[in-house]
Amino acid sequence: MKPIQVGLLGIGTVGSGVFEVLRRNQEEITRRAGRGIEIAAVSRRDTAKARAIVGDAAEVVADARQIIANPDIDIVVELIGGYGLARELVLEAIAAGKHVVTANKALLAVHGTEIFAAAHARGVMVAFEAAVAGGIPIIKALREGLTANRIQWIAGIINGTTNFILSEMRDKGLDFAVALGEAQRLGYAEADPTFDIEGVDAAHKVTLMSAIAFGIPVQFDKAYVEGITKLSAADIKYAEQLGYRIKLLGITKRAEKGIELRVHPALVPSKRLLANVEGAMNAVLVQADAVGTTLYYGKGAGSEPTASAVIADLVDITRLHTANAAQRVPSLAFQPDALSDLPV
Ligand code: NDP
Ligand code: HSE
Repeated sequence: MKPIQVGLLGIGTVGSGVFEVLRRNQEEITRRAGRGIEIAAVSRRDTAKARAIVGDAAEVVADARQIIANPDIDIVVELIGGYGLARELVLEAIAAGKHVVTANKALLAVHGTEIFAAAHARGVMVAFEAAVAGGIPIIKALREGLTANRIQWIAGIINGTTNFILSEMRDKGLDFAVALGEAQRLGYAEADPTFDIEGVDAAHKVTLMSAIAFGIPVQFDKAYVEGITKLSAADIKYAEQLGYRIKLLGITKRAEKGIELRVHPALVPSKRLLANVEGAMNAVLVQADAVGTTLYYGKGAGSEPTASAVIADLVDITRLHTANAAQRVPSLAFQPDALSDLPV
């Protein structure tokens, strides 16, 4: 069967990771998806940079709309970021009958209602595992693994940049600005890092988790948002002396009236799990009635961790396209030949 054809809109930190991981793990990914996944075209204004990443393996265009207009493309992956152009492109891709994968939490937290309604009307999928907590499969956990539960609250460290800054300030005594520059160099920060340090990015993510967990509309405008810009090295030091660590937490929970949605720095007792989440790592705690508390931990930002989540969505969508119904659900992707290599 012909591989499913994918077009990447934007090939920067995350897009280049998607390209590399798909290339490196092609055989396993194909087996699990039941069909090959091929990046047929990529778009970037600086086409020379895109060409340097993909070589001759994919078409390179400067205009993202060329990819949407291409009838051979089955799935469009939006990795440009921001609200404006990304919204137009995603809505155009949906109107063209293409499935969409995006890592863009800002777009979905602000325009999610419109985008999901358009996708529903057109009968295509909009998948966004990479939009929350980078490589951690938290969307799948909330949507599938915990589907039997009534979720009571979610609390977590869901912005890698700010957690990295707080860790570097505490452990290495780095200045805020130096630590932020390092987070940018490592590919953790948003194009506009104000979103990270002011808590906006974490609020986008907690808004999306809240919508899934509690079945409410995406309501970013209702979130209380406070970042880490008012914290000083002295605050971090005094917290430490008192047996606490300062963490930027995203919290959503059932309250007496409605649902709470907030992001702010919090004092976490040093012995607690969340206090020991360091660098760009993320961790999300979910309290639910049947299963109790579950914890999800892993890399919350960066090229390949985020690519891992984008590709998981590509595999999910590809399974839906396969003619074999048995492959539409995740399987063990059993390889008969591999058994002969086992020492028995
Ligand atoms: P980058 O800035 O590294 O990449 C963005 C890409 O989009 C660049 O290749 C840029 O190239 C391209 N681009 C910008 N404008 C256009 C345009 N008009 N047409 C075509 N291409 C365009 O961002 P990231 O890869 O870091 O982030 C992408 C998305 O993933 C964002 O929504 C971000 O929030 C999200 N995300 C990022 C994570 C991370 O760790 N970095 C983690 C989780 C989510 P050029 O300027 O040459 O056009
Ligand atoms: N800027 C984001 C962060 C990227 O630092 O967590 C991952 O969503």
